[in-house]
Amino acid sequence: MTANELREKFIEFFVSRNHKEISGKSLVPENDPTVLFTTAGMHPLVPYLLGEPHPAGKRLVDFQKCVRTGDIESVGDPSHLTFFEMLGNWSLGDYFKEEAIAMSYEFLTSGQWLGIDPRRISVTVFAGDDGVPADEESAQVWQRVGIPRERIYFLPREDNWWGPAGETGPCGPDSEMFYDTGKDACGPECRPGCGCGKYFEIWNDVFMQYNKKADGTYEKLARRCVDTGMGIERTSAMLQGKKSVYEIEVFAPVIAAIENVTGRRYGEDENPDRSIRIIADHVKASAFMLGDEADIRPSNIGRGYILRRLIRRASRHGRKLGKEEAFLAGPAEVVIGMYGKYYPVLAQKRQQILDELSGEEARFLETLRKGEHEFEKLLPNLMKNPQKTIPGRVAFRLYDTYGFPIELTEELAAENGMGVDRRGFEEAFARHQDLSKQGAEKTFKGGLADNSEMTTALHTATHLLHKALHIVLGDHVRQMGSNITPERLRFDFPNSEPLTQEQIARVQDIVNQQIQADLPVKMEVMSLDEAKKAGAFAFFGDKYEEQVKVYSLGDFSKEVCGGPHVEHLGVLGKFVIQKEQSSSAGVRRIRAVLER
Ligand code: ALA
Repeated sequence: MTANELREKFIEFFVSRNHKEISGKSLVPENDPTVLFTTAGMHPLVPYLLGEPHPAGKRLVDFQKCVRTGDIESVGDPSHLTFFEMLGNWSLGDYFKEEAIAMSYEFLTSGQWLGIDPRRISVTVFAGDDGVPADEESAQVWQRVGIPRERIYFLPREDNWWGPAGETGPCGPDSEMFYDTGKDACGPECRPGCGCGKYFEIWNDVFMQYNKKADGTYEKLARRCVDTGMGIERTSAMLQGKKSVYEIEVFAPVIAAIENVTGRRYGEDENPDRSIRIIADHVKASAFMLGDEADIRPSNIGRGYILRRLIRRASRHGRKLGKEEAFLAGPAEVVIGMYGKYYPVLAQKRQQILDELSGEEARFLETLRKGEHEFEKLLPNLMKNPQKTIPGRVAFRLYDTYGFPIELTEELAAENGMGVDRRGFEEAFARHQDLSKQGAEKTFKGGLADNSEMTTALHTATHLLHKALHIVLGDHVRQMGSNITPERLRFDFPNSEPLTQEQIARVQDIVNQQIQADLPVKMEVMSLDEAKKAGAFAFFGDKYEEQVKVYSLGDFSKEVCGGPHVEHLGVLGKFVIQKEQSSSAGVRRIRAVLER
């Protein structure tokens, strides 16, 4: 059964069980600001899982494009992918465990559907822990449909609990289905999920019963829901008896295209094979990001940064295969051809995808040239080091400033008889990642529509406004909500009365004075305690990392914030408050623009 046949059967099965198909959502979850990308079919459904009525009803089914980059280092092994498709069915307060499990079992085992031998199926259920009992109910249902007790495993939270990908959201115990490949057990502890390769995970039924809140507590959902997820690539590999997702027909033509442009044959030698698999996965993920409904372009922050990394990584593996010029457009074209039918936007954006890919690749090759040049300049000094080791911070600077991958620094170092302090590099890298992760989270929580120049400018203006309101109205002012688009900023804060004309004029004047003074913007990293001591504004309801970024606008304002901001205030132009109105009881809302 091909991946496309599996897709069609799944949809057909659930439609025949009164589900409405809702396929076709973006990779950027409109409804879930806690994640950068849709990492599972449930992200577009978050508000509905939490209680909103869904326009299509209470029983839904879809196929959904997903991106997960948490395991990017494992991509290239037989089962990891950054881009994959997920099949899912949902009950929004309709059926629960009994019917969900019965339908899963029927779809997997019935000859009319997948026809998997039931003796090959094992399942897991939640073992329970403080506060939440063991999921005996699901176990009973599994037994009733025909899975014997000895193939039902009770596993802890880390295996059988679907938690929100971000900090908050719907969650609950789950029950996973595994296929036994027939391989020998790896030991007496061998069980589904142990990772030895005996058991292949095929499907996950989540029983959504709670909403995890920002303060870390769980609130019971008013109506219980079901969220399921089946990975198309993995399940079709399993159905086709393949050991690797890269061996199924959705990869074969992409791999052929890579063989074609690089002149390397797949299947001869593990090292180049791994590079070919990485390129195949990354090209696919990049093509889908560029061909998404949302406008994702390579950049240095957020989603754009992930896209950039994928393209650059693919390009670097091309170099490893001996390909020095840009080559990704060819394999990308194959991806577009294969998937255009199911993802029309991908087909519509064909030319744009190919142009962006080639453009980014060309920029990267240029970066590599510059990095090599820079490395040669540093070399005489580095050679003086008696340990023959390049310090981690130098390697990190090459990476951070010139986009020069660590592996290349190592390669060049080796050519000159030197090593690289990889640990030092990794430490520097981890520090940086923490910061940018925090940056991304705060950015989205803070309500920035994008990272355009204008949005960034308005974000800095928001800090000015916050402080000016504090000066004019008093210490009770704090940010309750902020929403920034390239056109305007919107800021909500507590105040019992409407602002007077004089107050509005004063706030506006104070902000414009700082802009005219062209104060510099400075970012420092410190502990939250230090930030508080320094008098920085912070939203203490938020959970912060140990180290936070503090943005100072001259001596005028200090705020814990993930950025981004302009470098000095002079570029902001003229700040104008357009509207001051009530947002809700005791909360005022200001809408302002920058005239530049
Ligand atoms: N959301 C669940 C998963 O992705 C179904 O496994």
